[in-house]
Amino acid sequence: MTQPQYIILLGPPGSGKGTQAANLREHLDLPHVASGDLFRYNLNNETELGLKAKTYMDRGKLVPDDVTIAMVLDRLARPDCAAGALLDGFPRTLPQAQALDAALAEGGHAISRVLNIQVPEEEVVNRLSGRLICRECQEPFHKIYKPFETCPYGKCYGEHLYQRDDDKPATVRNRLKVYNDQTSPLIAYYREQGVLVDVDGAQPITEVTASLKAALDDL
Ligand code: AP5
Repeated sequence: MTQPQYIILLGPPGSGKGTQAANLREHLDLPHVASGDLFRYNLNNETELGLKAKTYMDRGKLVPDDVTIAMVLDRLARPDCAAGALLDGFPRTLPQAQALDAALAEGGHAISRVLNIQVPEEEVVNRLSGRLICRECQEPFHKIYKPFETCPYGKCYGEHLYQRDDDKPATVRNRLKVYNDQTSPLIAYYREQGVLVDVDGAQPITEVTASLKAALDDL
């Protein structure tokens, strides 16, 4: 039996993790597990978890590790993740990364690859200020770079699009600071494990997808 594959998309807010996860879906045939989407799902359903997460998300802060780790490990334990998962937005702190390693090790598994998507900060701010999300399929679009007519599900009709509350410029600046302080140390953590590959995320969307596929070629 082949080993389950756990692939992590790492990168600052707006680096294109969600966009690329959608593009890699068919290539990898793995479920897309995005911690931000799980929080927003809970928030839309007004669960206790969602309302708690909102108080952090609105300020561009990270939701506490205990809550986040429990939510994502619970998602990874579901049957559709038996062959692994494409992780987006998790882990984001060293305790999250260590908890994930420990949980996978219990089942005799490990991280297969970490794709470190590199994009300069000014480009990130530019992307997030034009981002629109579809309420129907959760796909991220962009006013200029990725208009909603490209929806692969044919479900988007302009009126379903909204701007995320945390894409306001002041919150984006906080999110970038949080990324630099708390998440970027994961680059060294995974490089040391020998599983990290750097990818230039400042290219056009389809070229980033091609680079990511090339970085997964030997798996
Ligand atoms: P989350 O939803 O994970 O947000 P994020 O990591 O900040 O990432 P984004 O979704 O903003 O960006 P992305 O990299 O997916 O870019 P996208 O593809 O959309 O987290 C939100 C909040 O939830 C956090 O702040 C925190 O509070 C909480 N949270 C989540 N996970 C947590 C965790 N593990 N621990 C604690 N708290 C957690 O692309 C952006 C835009 O650019 C789009 O408009 C897209 O069309 C465009 N675009 C993409 N690629 C390109 C390209 N190559 N060229 C031009 N445009 C492009």
